[in-house]
Amino acid sequence: MYIKDIRLSNFRNYKTLSLTFHKGINIIYGENAQGKTNLLESIYVLALTKSHRSFIDKNLIKEDCDSSKIIGNVFLKEMSTKFEIALTSTKKQFKIDGDVIKKTSDYLSKMNIVIFYPDDLELVKGSPNVRRRFLNIELSQLNSLYYNVLNDYNRLLKMRNDYIKNNFNQMDENYFSVLNSYFVEKAVILFKMRKKFIDKLNSYIIDIFYHISSLKNFHIQYDSFIEYEEKEDEMKKKFENILLSVREKEIRYRTTLIGPHRDDFSFYIGDMPLKSFGSQGQQRMAVLALKLAEIEIFKSYKKESPILLLDDVFSELDDCKKNNLLKYMKEDIQTIITTTNLSDIDESIIKQSKRIEIKNGSIKQIEEVK
Ligand SMILES: Nc1ncnc2c1ncn2[C@@H]1O[C@H](COP(=O)(O)OP(=O)(O)O)[C@@H](O)[C@H]1O
Ligand SMILES: [Mg+2]
Repeated sequence: MYIKDIRLSNFRNYKTLSLTFHKGINIIYGENAQGKTNLLESIYVLALTKSHRSFIDKNLIKEDCDSSKIIGNVFLKEMSTKFEIALTSTKKQFKIDGDVIKKTSDYLSKMNIVIFYPDDLELVKGSPNVRRRFLNIELSQLNSLYYNVLNDYNRLLKMRNDYIKNNFNQMDENYFSVLNSYFVEKAVILFKMRKKFIDKLNSYIIDIFYHISSLKNFHIQYDSFIEYEEKEDEMKKKFENILLSVREKEIRYRTTLIGPHRDDFSFYIGDMPLKSFGSQGQQRMAVLALKLAEIEIFKSYKKESPILLLDDVFSELDDCKKNNLLKYMKEDIQTIITTTNLSDIDESIIKQSKRIEIKNGSIKQIEEVK
């Protein structure tokens, strides 16, 4: 798939912007703080309804403005589809081809994005919630069912936490076991979807990592609340028993201690966890391999490439890793790159790219592909 054009109004430092993209590689360049990342962010928000760098939607609206709009035409399997997001500080509305979409899950599995930016290193080094967020975003893009199950789970988790908090002295066993059975059901579905995704990542990532680093046995380990069982019923029973066994502790802490909301995953080379023992270079390669594996998963599930956004990553990669990224970019995947320095990008790539210079929230110059 590829994004053909975008129109912004009052988004970040853009009052208005109207821009057409190339089907292949696009390079957004300009000095610092001019709006390069903001432009990538607008594409990300158009696809995923939320920003990758701000939890607060209000930050996306231009200073001193009340509302913001992003409109983009995206080719999905050769069909032009119009995506539209309107934001106010309290409301968000999504449209596809002019129709208001009420369910977020129906919206965010359509336009697919893989983004790679410097803060991604947090996926290796950061806290578990960074990695859970990654799982949630990627799986919501792959399967609209996931987002719904996740919302159900979070609602049940809150109910369960509230119930423990308010009734720890005197629990109604019947009520609590009904609540638990719903909770367990959603938890097991999430577990299975996450496990399948991580297995799939592993099936690609070993070769990819070997290619970029010449190191073998790279893999991701899913650290979850339960072990995989062939039969779903057995997994549910097991989880129910685990919940029973931690009941007293949960009452003491007045909260739910076990479940997908505590999930994590970690990166290993052989037995060595990258988080604590990997060099910065290895950690960076791990993230790159993860993103490249993700592209493969999208291709295999969706039968088309996602849109690849690369924010300021070329200055940090050495030539070998750059070449690997470039190899993927050549393979029929729309790529939108930002850089402060065009000279960080290989001359041969620049030649086949559309170049857009951004200055202070406007386009200063455009050079089409020759
Ligand atoms: N909501 C907003 N309203 C107006 N300007 C904003 C808003 N959010 C960020 N900016 C401005 O955007 C600029 C940063 O843009 P960014 O895209 O991150 O720059 P870069 O080109 O370095 O990637 C800063 O000057 C910042 O003040
Ligand atoms: Mg930037």
